[in-house]
Amino acid sequence: MKFRILALEALLMVGANGYAQQLTLKADNIDQIVKALTLEEKAHLLVGGRTPANNIIGAAGATQAIPRLGIPSIILTDGPAGVRISPTHKGDSRTYYATGFPVGTALACTWNPELVENVGKAIGEEVLEYGCDVLLAPGMNIQRTPLCGRNFEYYSEDPIVAGTMAAAYVKGVQSNGVGTSIKHFVANSQETNRTEVDEVISQRALREIYLKGFELAVKEANPWTVMSSYNRLNGVWTQSSQPLLTTILRDEWGYKGAVMTDWTGGRTSYDRIIAGNDLLEPGYNEQEQDLIDNVKNGKLSMDIVDTRVKTMLGLIVKSPRFKGYKYSGTPDLKAHAALTRQTSTEGMVLLENRDQTLPLKDVKRVSLFGVTSYNFIAGGTGSGDVNKAYVVDLKSGLTNAGLTIDNDLQALYESYKDFNERVRKVNGRWVRTDELRVSRQAIERQAASNDLAIFTIGRQAGEGRDRTIDNDFNLTNDERDMLNDICNAFHAQGKRVVVILNMGNVIETASWKAMPDAVLMAWQPGQEGGNSVADILTGKQNPSGKLTMTFPIMVSDVPAVNNFPIGNSFRSSNEKGRRNIDYTLHEEGIYVGYRYFSTFNKPVSYSFGYGLSYTTFAYSKPIVKASKNGFDANIAVKNTGGVAGKETVQLYVSAPKGTLDRPTKELKAFAKTHVLQPGESQTLQFHVDTYSLASFNEQASAWQAEKGKYEVEFDASIADIRATASYTNPKAFAQQVNDVLKPDRSISDIKP
Ligand code: GLC
Repeated sequence: MKFRILALEALLMVGANGYAQQLTLKADNIDQIVKALTLEEKAHLLVGGRTPANNIIGAAGATQAIPRLGIPSIILTDGPAGVRISPTHKGDSRTYYATGFPVGTALACTWNPELVENVGKAIGEEVLEYGCDVLLAPGMNIQRTPLCGRNFEYYSEDPIVAGTMAAAYVKGVQSNGVGTSIKHFVANSQETNRTEVDEVISQRALREIYLKGFELAVKEANPWTVMSSYNRLNGVWTQSSQPLLTTILRDEWGYKGAVMTDWTGGRTSYDRIIAGNDLLEPGYNEQEQDLIDNVKNGKLSMDIVDTRVKTMLGLIVKSPRFKGYKYSGTPDLKAHAALTRQTSTEGMVLLENRDQTLPLKDVKRVSLFGVTSYNFIAGGTGSGDVNKAYVVDLKSGLTNAGLTIDNDLQALYESYKDFNERVRKVNGRWVRTDELRVSRQAIERQAASNDLAIFTIGRQAGEGRDRTIDNDFNLTNDERDMLNDICNAFHAQGKRVVVILNMGNVIETASWKAMPDAVLMAWQPGQEGGNSVADILTGKQNPSGKLTMTFPIMVSDVPAVNNFPIGNSFRSSNEKGRRNIDYTLHEEGIYVGYRYFSTFNKPVSYSFGYGLSYTTFAYSKPIVKASKNGFDANIAVKNTGGVAGKETVQLYVSAPKGTLDRPTKELKAFAKTHVLQPGESQTLQFHVDTYSLASFNEQASAWQAEKGKYEVEFDASIADIRATASYTNPKAFAQQVNDVLKPDRSISDIKP
């Protein structure tokens, strides 16, 4: 009874005018509100609203309102490439299409955090003006192998690139006063069996590769929320892992925001709240009851519940919805379309350009091959897809640029194209079933009557399923035969062939890349994709994108692929479950991507950091100076070619030999010039702090950087060293951390 009176008193505050006032949530009365909440209401706040309680239909989720205390429901919407809501609402004549921006991989390949921040700003404006409060993005898991279905949403095989891009994106989105959710924390490295698989990872690989990007993003950008992933980690669900969600994320990294789960049901709830989640999404009735029951039986302390409730109220009071923002429903889609065109152009990577085939010269008539040319793939599938108003395909982009597309060939594809047929669901997954096999005679006729051949190879992938090797990572037989026939026919006429890769992931390139005259990786470039490709082919834009992942010669060259679910077959099965399905051993350890290929001297098709330009750049002698914490460096880059362009300089460091094995070199910083006119120079500045030179010593449970001489490289790509210097670390560095998240199975990481 006493408790009820207290709650009532708390409710009826006496205002300055002497009259009783209803207690309502404010930014500065959260403690009071917590006192006034009943246990049922607290459970409400920790479990998602089954469907968005507001009129933003099609958003992924929401929190629950407590109207009596002025606590609104806030809206959570996907995704990394743009706002994902239903474009039409019953009874509303307006439309709610959002801009389809380039996928995460394409953003990262710009190597331009400033540009990525601008994209974040634009997406954040659409979140705000479409009445949402938190964007469930960026996706930033490490691209451990080329076969993960969601790589398109992610940034890189390298944690510095991933963390830097994620931080830029978060700052941009949150500059609108809306939130983000960096995801999926942590090590959601495969889609196969993603809600059950146990990702088994050494502490060192976890710290240096899988956690490092999230650490950077948390410390640099302070995202409003973090999304705990579906998978297990070393035997424990990440969502139930207190060492992960509290000891590391909050105690070590100082994170003060909210943690929400990925969209999972079925698990116990109280332990996920104890571990460090503040919100269980999407929310189920039994979850609230589970919390209430476990408070009553003592398993879940009211202190922890109140801590989580305070965090949720702290999130809610920041939201536009709480602030009563009157959203317009009309963000500046035109400006955002222009931005996505510019951004996707800057993320495209020129892989081959023999005899300066590009930019196009004396080309008017184009033979446009490939089903994807006429149905360009703007983004990946699943929650990372965006309901866009349009997609500019390559045919349209080239036509817009003044080129003439061969009508006969176009008609052939248009008749064939019923893309609902050609791009159809196989085993629940959108795949491009096959290429149109144009006859050799038809190709020869094309070569006789047109100036150039363009052949687009497309791939689609997405959430919930990983890629296969045949007909996905590797070319299909039809694609290979078509490429062969096209090159033979056009080269016989002294004409050239350009291949466009339209995909969100890596494919096999070594066996065929010498056949065409130019190869452009267009990624999944968003809704303006066709125009962006045309901007590059015509020279309107000079390509400046570089790869943020390695293109292996064969997928089996990637060590992690030995521990990856190839297709749905699993490698072996024992009492511990199915290898690569129920548990995946990250036996490659820290040797992911270039860390492996450069350290083990394995050849690749295209290196990490590689990308061609229409111009050339010279690097000056670098200056490296010790600072009070690490070192500062600068280097001048000069455009020594004939056209304006941008250059990204990558700074790699090789540590002195020490007790720990290490990659030969690791990326520690990077910087991109602005557009340099021919002859123009720009000096790029870098800072590398001592902590980022450190490696993780499992025995000591500490980050350690040896005293001694560190070699410093300034590279155009990891394989293209342009300048070197060195830095002497005056004294050994060590930073102790908690000895947590040990693997639950023995795992033998590879060593050089
Ligand atoms: C999905 C995804 C996550 C997404 C969420 C809401 O399963 O894993 O990235 O934000 O559910 O749609």
